[in-house]
Amino acid sequence: MITLNINGQEKSVDVAPDTPLLWVLRDTLQLTGTKYGCGMSLCGACTVHMNGQAVRSCSTPVSAVAEAKVVTIEGVGEGAAGKAVQQAWQALDVVQCGYCQSGQIMSATALLEGNRSPSDSDIDQAMGGNLCRCATYVRIRAAIHEAARSLA
Ligand code: FES
Ligand code: FES
Repeated sequence: MITLNINGQEKSVDVAPDTPLLWVLRDTLQLTGTKYGCGMSLCGACTVHMNGQAVRSCSTPVSAVAEAKVVTIEGVGEGAAGKAVQQAWQALDVVQCGYCQSGQIMSATALLEGNRSPSDSDIDQAMGGNLCRCATYVRIRAAIHEAARSLA
């Protein structure tokens, strides 16, 4: 058994230590908001927070997060930055198909938790690993600026 802290709740899971966190979230805990894209740390669809940092859950073994606080898309709106990001996403109608957007929101929130006034280049650097096949990048950048304004 491995005990995890997910969105502020302790969860014990009976899985092999090298199981990717993404599988535990989706298949064991039914937290299916976190998406599988590439499985190789290349697309960002599976992004969650580990102690406030954006990490790729597809390539993070569950044993590596046993001592950490993990936040997923299901819990990110509990924090001020996550709530502001979600509101800005809605206000600017960022989403198209939606598949990448959980990961986008998690990366955007991690950025704003560390930098309440990011420049365009800060945004490009923080969000560069989150791919969007619908090319919503312009609205994502605008929504991050909007969320930063609302947090100021
Ligand atoms: S599914 Fe994890 S980075 Fe693509
Ligand atoms: S909204 Fe469709 S992949 Fe990003």
